[in-house]
Amino acid sequence: MKALVLSGGSGTRLRPFSYSMPKQLIPVVNKPVLEHVLDNITALGVTDIGIIVGERADEIRDALGDGAQLGARLTYIHQDAPLGLAHCVRLARTFLGDDDFIMYLGDNMLPGGIKDIAARFTAERPAAQVVVHQVPDPRAFGVAELADDDTVVRLVEKPEHPGSDLALIGVYLFTPAIHEAVAAIEPSPRGELEITDAIQWLVTHGAEVKAARYTGYWKDTGRAQDVLECNRRLLAELTTHIAGDVDATSELIGPVVIGTGARIVRSRITGPVVIGAGTLIEDSHIGPDTSIGDNCVLRASRLVDSIVMNGASIVHIPGLTGSLIGRAATIGPSDHDQAHHRLVVGDHTHVEVAA
Ligand code: G1P
Repeated sequence: MKALVLSGGSGTRLRPFSYSMPKQLIPVVNKPVLEHVLDNITALGVTDIGIIVGERADEIRDALGDGAQLGARLTYIHQDAPLGLAHCVRLARTFLGDDDFIMYLGDNMLPGGIKDIAARFTAERPAAQVVVHQVPDPRAFGVAELADDDTVVRLVEKPEHPGSDLALIGVYLFTPAIHEAVAAIEPSPRGELEITDAIQWLVTHGAEVKAARYTGYWKDTGRAQDVLECNRRLLAELTTHIAGDVDATSELIGPVVIGTGARIVRSRITGPVVIGAGTLIEDSHIGPDTSIGDNCVLRASRLVDSIVMNGASIVHIPGLTGSLIGRAATIGPSDHDQAHHRLVVGDHTHVEVAA
């Protein structure tokens, strides 16, 4: 079995981050979402992995390399324009050959893993198997209607009037039967070759398509609040590991991870909190529910329920909460004007201030 990971989308809902980094590299518990995805795939023993990359291909290559560090062999496949998930399967035809494969959207988090789901596919080997999850409002997703034995009877992409509450959650298992289907379909009204339409084509042509229900926590990390929620969920599983220095006047409460070369000085860390390598925390209260990347500086600040990416600095900010702070961002007091706020913020940045 091979895997095809889709990492070409631009992620407009994650602006401003998606201006400067591929959304799949946004860190959750200090690890890019895409690495969480690859971990779930290699956990199945699948190591031959194709990655569809778009305009941000270089950064994804820089982050993952040839995959050896993750125990995988990565093949990068370039998609010039985001023409749909079924288009990705067409592009990957040579890489996939006639193998079965798992297709996985590179911004979908399924921390419960997919071992049972993949085992079921291997045992039953239908032409295709989709993964579904109950959601309150499925109109933003592909929606599956199932028979009693979980055979798919109909799939519709983003229906106005959904026939069930079962959303497709970005993980698919295919036999080579899918290739004929992706070759046969036409672009949808949004101009994309929809994988949902290709799977529906299989259903219409009498192939067996099954659904596996994923009941664990699932998140499409499309928006900032989704990333923060996902971070909180994964932090809840944290176990303490201290590699850096904690001075005698600092206090650690609950599960805390402190990376190599990090220093905690006169501070209180209330877990779950993860602090990256080389980061300095001084005279601050951090946590709970917070991830801080590598080589950051936090001084005289208080930070709760937030993600701080590598190289950022936060100084004299007493009440930050629910925040997502980008790489090498600096937040701190003015050098010469104590009376006013001064902001240098990029396009589509979102700032909320305490009134
Ligand atoms: C895509 C699929 C959709 C699926 C969703 C899961 O939607 O087309 O069927 O439910 O991923 O995240 P998109 O993110 O392209 O709108």
